Amino acid sequence: MMNTLNNQVIIVTGGAAGIGGGITQELVQRGATVIAVDVNEEAGTQIEKNNPGKVIFLKGDVSQKSVADEAVNIAVSQFGKLTGVVNNAHVSRQKPLMDLTEDDWAISFGTGFNATLNFMKSAYPELKKSQGAIVNLGSGAALQGSRFQASYAAAKEAIRGLSRVAATEWAADNIRVNVVCPLAFTAGVKNWKENFPEDYQHVVEKIPLGRFGDPQHDVAPIVAFLLSEDSKYMTGQTLMADGGDIMLR
Ligand SMILES: NC(=O)c1ccc[n+]([C@@H]2O[C@H](COP(=O)([O-])OP(=O)(O)OC[C@H]3O[C@@H](n4cnc5c(N)ncnc54)[C@H](O)[C@@H]3O)[C@@H](O)[C@H]2O)c1
Repeated sequence: MMNTLNNQVIIVTGGAAGIGGGITQELVQRGATVIAVDVNEEAGTQIEKNNPGKVIFLKGDVSQKSVADEAVNIAVSQFGKLTGVVNNAHVSRQKPLMDLTEDDWAISFGTGFNATLNFMKSAYPELKKSQGAIVNLGSGAALQGSRFQASYAAAKEAIRGLSRVAATEWAADNIRVNVVCPLAFTAGVKNWKENFPEDYQHVVEKIPLGRFGDPQHDVAPIVAFLLSEDSKYMTGQTLMADGGDIMLR
């Protein structure tokens, strides 16, 4: 394993469990220090304990601007810099478009779009100093317009639009901004597989590489690449970490 992220200090939102947990683990294995921001205290405490001195758990709701500021302050006060941000946390409810309430829309845009924007803005002055990188999480469901995903898809595509504009504006500061759309076997997907085994099978059969990805071993290396020097000539891009499920043109 190449330690391509040595000396990096990276914030991962939703970084205690699921895909974010896999990203936190992989970034640490590649030499980074991670501030994992999450509402899940049990998972956060555990991942901090498992990675002494390399993971700092910050308990907080990413939709609060103060949490973004606090995460950046921890990076700077404890490690002297911030070199990357991964905006991964995002909560939404799946319903037919006409059934979505104001609260449903607010949850998806609050934890998805607003949180991403706030973390990007809070991190900007430090990323400018470190010539750092941002990775935002998008979704194949948003690209495809999957049913019952209106509030989620709209927030995810708003994140991609924001990412492209920031990539253009912040290129002058040498801050790169890219998007990763994952497909990974998380607790939520496991639950869905158990409840709807035929639907699950149908989706798996359509994935060219024939399986859902592993958060740490399939998705996180692509995020790590976008945070590393190896991708220094890439910005504003969307990379599909999805076994070929969607092939962008
Ligand atoms: N699982 C997939 O296959 C898939 C597919 C496409 C896109 N995505 C995207 O990847 C990202 C991660 O997905 P996941 O399936 O691991 O999600 P998840 O629901 O498992 O949550 C990830 C983490 O975020 C934390 N979290 C939730 N709300 C939070 C909040 N308000 N503040 C701070 N932390 C919070 C959770 O506690 C959890 O640890 C999301 O942006 C998701 O939309 C996932």
